[in-house]
Amino acid sequence: MSLNWTIKEYESVESTQDILKEYASNGASEGLVIVGEEQKSGRGRHGNVWDAPKGNLYMSLLLKPNCPAAVAGQYSFIIAVALSDAISSFIDDVHIKKLKWPNDVLIKDKKCAGILLESELSVDGIVSDLYVGVGVNILSPPEDKIGISDVSKGDVTVQSFLKEFLGKIEYYIKIYNKNGFSDISELWMSQAYKLEEEIKVRLPNKVIYGVFEGIDSDGTLLLRLDNGEVQAITAGEVYF
Ligand code: BTN
Repeated sequence: MSLNWTIKEYESVESTQDILKEYASNGASEGLVIVGEEQKSGRGRHGNVWDAPKGNLYMSLLLKPNCPAAVAGQYSFIIAVALSDAISSFIDDVHIKKLKWPNDVLIKDKKCAGILLESELSVDGIVSDLYVGVGVNILSPPEDKIGISDVSKGDVTVQSFLKEFLGKIEYYIKIYNKNGFSDISELWMSQAYKLEEEIKVRLPNKVIYGVFEGIDSDGTLLLRLDNGEVQAITAGEVYF
């Protein structure tokens, strides 16, 4: 199956996620992409605000995976791998780029891009609509963040990046549909930030430390604690 992209561009929006959901509730097809030149109320994971001035990419993409909720989390890794590959097309040294669990792209240890997955479940717990929100700093990174143009080998624009990125999403979804999660997970792990190193994870009620061992078949983070036990972490924020 190949995805048919329908791209709708807006000058200024509150959040591209909300516009996408509105279209989805009116029966939009898979492959709809909402792009906002700027967002007034962009949101990130854990209820964080996502700064969204003009000059960066803010997009929300509609997918219809029809899979159980636990499996839908794998899409954040598919998108992260696609995002990473798209960024590679614009930079010389791919080693300055890393993937931080679960779905940030870092360049020179600073955040360049983030992914927010939201979903609509049908009564039987199947994800019917997946709203994939992606923010990529390109020309106007907020303070303490980095933009692709800070490290690019030539010109990069929001439009040129979007085109490259959509091509990569299509490519990696095909790989996933053909081979399952293992290839994606391997690619993600090969670029993982702080793999085999000590990390700190903030859970809703406590902070824990351990060695980042990798991800399992659902994309769950595996943390080796001091006592040797491996703890599986499905949701949390990772610090270093
Ligand atoms: C994160 O790292 O916390 C995820 C950030 C996701 C931001 C994007 S920008 C486009 C889409 N619309 C939003 O309001 N958020 C996502």
